[in-house]
Amino acid sequence: MSDMQPTSNAQQIAYWNEEGGERWVAIQARTDAAFAEVTQAALHSAAPQPGETVLDIGCGCGGTVLDLARSVAPAGNVVGLDVSRPMLALAEDRARGVGIANAEFILADASTYPFETRFDLAFSRFGVMFFDEPFGAFANIKRALRPGGRLAFLAWRPLKENPWFTVPLGVALQHVPPPAPADPRAPGPFAFADPQYVRDILERAGFSAIEIERRDPAMKLAAPGDLAGAASLATNLGVVSRLLTGQDTAMWSAVENGIREALKPYDGPAGVSLGGSVWFVTARA
Ligand SMILES: C[S@@+](CC[C@H](N)C(=O)[O-])C[C@H]1O[C@@H](n2cnc3c(N)ncnc32)[C@H](O)[C@@H]1O
Repeated sequence: MSDMQPTSNAQQIAYWNEEGGERWVAIQARTDAAFAEVTQAALHSAAPQPGETVLDIGCGCGGTVLDLARSVAPAGNVVGLDVSRPMLALAEDRARGVGIANAEFILADASTYPFETRFDLAFSRFGVMFFDEPFGAFANIKRALRPGGRLAFLAWRPLKENPWFTVPLGVALQHVPPPAPADPRAPGPFAFADPQYVRDILERAGFSAIEIERRDPAMKLAAPGDLAGAASLATNLGVVSRLLTGQDTAMWSAVENGIREALKPYDGPAGVSLGGSVWFVTARA
């Protein structure tokens, strides 16, 4: 892994290197499983080809880097870039563990990293909503793409349209006060909920052929009957984990137990499954 570049996203970098990153490392297998349906559809549409050079922005624990590396092999390669040292360390271990030789990892801020113009595709699974200067960040990402290169990323649609977030959040809010109202476009999972804002960012960065497509995947939080696993995932990821940051372990357990109860109605033959809603965004450099 190469070294961190100077950055202006200090709070996000701290979060993803401390409790946020540690929790994502702990639940990586569950997260990859829950995101499988939406990920496979996004990768299919992004269509990485053998021989291509691909950038995975905010690649986290590396699940999509592994998929992309297999798609572009043997001649192509993938760069997974992220600000989180613990998540990137796991990504590197996983790539090594499965013998993937055409992936490398860079610890850096995508909004400021001095990219060479060499990528055919810049992909991201929920890793591009955390920039404090998204207009500049996407202009920087565009510099990484060859002329005509593709951008393809997933971002969450509004919180209220994602029951897999709102059901656990409803439980957490019985235990802790709601967060102070914040700018809906502030860095975070829902910063790109407004598609016109996403379009403005990409247009201003110089992208063309911008398409923003709604997709409503089933979010399978765990296998049938595994309510404990589903509750663990729902507590340690996204809005609930951010709300509980700073609370003691007793509070975390109380919320997790409550979420386990609340998820019972969603446990069926397909697993513990709730609705999700995302934007699949594509554009050309
Ligand atoms: C919601 S996680 C998604 C991780 C991964 N793509 C996945 O789907 O498992 C968001 C990721 O974006 C990374 N991230 C946040 N700000 C970033 C930045 N400025 N540059 C690069 N990565 C960033 C975080 O460290 C984290 O790994």
